[in-house]
Amino acid sequence: MGLSVEKEQLLPDSTEIAAKTQRSCAKKVAVGLLLVAGLLATFGTLSELPVPECMLNHSPVSSTAMSNTTTAGGSLDAGSIFLGLTSTERLRENLAKYTSKTRVGGKNKEFAEYTRDCFLQLGLDTQISEYYPWLNYPVDQRVALFNATTSEVLFEAGLKEDVIPGDPASSDPNNLPAFHGYSADGNVTGQLVYANYGSVDDFKALKAAGISVKDKIVLVRYGNLFRGLKVHGAELEGARGVLIYSDPAEDGYVQGPVYPEGPWRPESSFQRGSVQRMTVYPGDPLTPGYAATEDAPRLDPSKATNINHIPSLPLSHRDAEPLLRALKGQGKQASEVGDNWVGGLTSKGVEYWTGPSELNVNLLNKVEYKTMPIQNVIGKIRGSEEPNRAIIIGNHFDSWSAGAADPASGSAALLEIAYGLGQLLKLGWRPRRTIILASWDAEEYFTVGSTEWVEDNLDWLRAEAVAYLNVDMAVAGHDFTASASPILKDILYDVTKKVHHPNSTESVYSMWAKKLLGKGSVEEVPSFGKKLRVKKPRPPVHPLGSGSDYTAFMAHAGISSIDMRFSGQESTYHSNYDNFNWMVQNVDPDMKYHEAITQIWGLMAIQLATDPVLDLNPVAYAKEIKQYVVQIEKMLASKLHKSNKYKHKDMDAVVAKKLRHVRKAQQLLLTNARAIEQDKKRLLRVYGENCEMGSKRRQAICVHLRKQINDCTMRLERQFLNPEGIPGREWYKHILASPGRWMGYESQVFPALAEAIEDNDWKRFQQHEKKMAEILDGAAWFLREI
Ligand SMILES: *[C@@H]1O[C@H](CO)[C@@H](O)[C@H](O)[C@H]1NC(C)=O
Ligand SMILES: *[C@@H]1O[C@H](CO)[C@@H](O)[C@H](O)[C@H]1NC(C)=O
Ligand SMILES: *[C@@H]1O[C@H](CO)[C@@H](O)[C@H](O)[C@H]1NC(C)=O
Ligand SMILES: *[C@@H]1O[C@H](CO)[C@@H](O)[C@H](O)[C@H]1NC(C)=O
Repeated sequence: MGLSVEKEQLLPDSTEIAAKTQRSCAKKVAVGLLLVAGLLATFGTLSELPVPECMLNHSPVSSTAMSNTTTAGGSLDAGSIFLGLTSTERLRENLAKYTSKTRVGGKNKEFAEYTRDCFLQLGLDTQISEYYPWLNYPVDQRVALFNATTSEVLFEAGLKEDVIPGDPASSDPNNLPAFHGYSADGNVTGQLVYANYGSVDDFKALKAAGISVKDKIVLVRYGNLFRGLKVHGAELEGARGVLIYSDPAEDGYVQGPVYPEGPWRPESSFQRGSVQRMTVYPGDPLTPGYAATEDAPRLDPSKATNINHIPSLPLSHRDAEPLLRALKGQGKQASEVGDNWVGGLTSKGVEYWTGPSELNVNLLNKVEYKTMPIQNVIGKIRGSEEPNRAIIIGNHFDSWSAGAADPASGSAALLEIAYGLGQLLKLGWRPRRTIILASWDAEEYFTVGSTEWVEDNLDWLRAEAVAYLNVDMAVAGHDFTASASPILKDILYDVTKKVHHPNSTESVYSMWAKKLLGKGSVEEVPSFGKKLRVKKPRPPVHPLGSGSDYTAFMAHAGISSIDMRFSGQESTYHSNYDNFNWMVQNVDPDMKYHEAITQIWGLMAIQLATDPVLDLNPVAYAKEIKQYVVQIEKMLASKLHKSNKYKHKDMDAVVAKKLRHVRKAQQLLLTNARAIEQDKKRLLRVYGENCEMGSKRRQAICVHLRKQINDCTMRLERQFLNPEGIPGREWYKHILASPGRWMGYESQVFPALAEAIEDNDWKRFQQHEKKMAEILDGAAWFLREI
């Protein structure tokens, strides 16, 4: 056992690269430019470039690529060419291709091969990387309500989504019935109890109301927390099984017209999805922390700690309704148990009661677990100057259904980026750094393909990866949102300023900022007990939690990551109706949002791969950590307040004292981050980003300095890893950003501190406060190692 080590270092030795870069820095650029000029003269327009065979069925494309492709200095601007190359017609064809069939993890070889062949035809060095995780598939399922005395069955749930005439994806024979990935196999019977969202607080409230879920079948609605944690919470309370239904209050007709008339979830529709305990570790349950290669040692399934043990199924509200009705008059009225315990079926005369019901429920979830081969597709473009520095962009291609928003919108964009890069290659362009395009399998089971690949390639990734750029549900609405390592904020703002908003004459950045910050240009942010007035606030970029393939990159490998999307209309999420028809009817008829995300994503990759000085900003990171500390202070103050141990007026001082090491380390980090930003500015001013100014000797100094600055900023994220991990879930190494223990997707900053506060474990808090400070200090000094 142990981490398997990568076979294929992108390049052997970084000192060799440094020497090479120094020798060839100026010369290669000039040669490259001549070559491009020659090729452009030969080809005339980019629209005449050959179309790869895999896209031959695609419509011909008119290109405006050549309208503005050179910078003021006359050099080739790959970013501008790329922006001119994207095509909504091709994106539509890509989307149609990927949504032509349901693509459940482990059963997708044809799609992996299609993507591989396409990448190859576009000139990318491409391979399929195969792993062998443990996955489950549905065999038989049943939810029935019956009278235990007479055995009379009063209701059988349908557990299938209706076929909609004229919507071919809704009748795909590969469509799955109601099913949860990584759900436990089981056939359980018991009385029914309604537990609202199934959060920790909801189970507490039930207990306080005198209602036990022990030995019961628990009915909860989707929302608030990750579905796998609902099942885990119920399991901890001794429940026998869990049913999770989509309540129309947040996900259905209460919100608006349902599909096919409108975009919202119809009555027979349910939300499939993984119920893995991903907060312990994601990926293959039987190979935690190392890759599920064919001959890897495997845990006995009973030893896998990231799966639940009680069966669960998703339900439509049509199937949930008779169950809720059976609770009427039994137990407590839900509105008495807590605020916001009543869902949207009241419009159909349903009263929400807790139960337990007099009638019994039988929940059968027969699933087959097996080791299945999965296929990631990895395409590479080798960097010309710094081949052992890699920008990785990734999206998964597996789906619970046709999956138009999730994830074919992103898969279509990835293929379109491959097309753009491929055409640039044909023009003789080479990125300075290596670009890797990854198409992941089995993400839906919980980031299995990406997690196994990261675990397999950990050593060289930590040495060579600059950033990981993820797009999952690229287009599921019209509002641009992003979560990212703060070090990537600047480049995100920069790139979104260069891309047109699909529905405006302005940039994506400007629409994004206006929507979120319309009110004014000054905001007040809390800072160490004071309020700071910040001019010109920028649109918020959230910390990364989990929920897609960036998880292993960021939280386990410490590679600065970002996740971007147009969101706001995820109303057929994980159902058969998240399909091509739904997308073009309700979200993106002209494929313009697809084009915008393609441009943002591709341009960010190109800039990171070509800018001689990496646009990574450690000052933004250090400042954001200050906000994280404030969050922990608030949490601490609120906990101490409840304990009544301290007088209110003393609270600030008490909190400050308990976090003094972390505060001090954060300040040092900010100081040193500012110093490296100064170094960077000076380098650009004195030598130019191509190190072209001054004597030969000074140019060599510049090249050396530039490499050190780039390496420092690129490796800063790694410094935030604690090799010991978060207590109780050691796979997660990042001390700043990991999925919240009881939230799932949502991030918890300083998880070790937050969880010690939650658990009232002050000894652990003190110990980890010092540890966090040590790690931040280390990061601060790392920045001055140049
Ligand atoms: C073309 O690019 C240049 C340099 O980036 C810019 O100044 C100019 O406004 C652009 N022209 C058009 C028509 O977009
Ligand atoms: C599930 O359990 C019920 C009740 O114990 C039983 O009647 C039924 O046959 C079982 N179904 C299967 C498929 O095992
Ligand atoms: C179950 O059936 C028995 C016998 O007919 C009946 O007395 C009882 O009320 C039924 N229970 C429920 C909850 O309907
Ligand atoms: C585009 O903007 C108009 C006007 O603001 C709005 O009514 C419309 O819904 C928007 N359409 C899309 C697809 O965003």
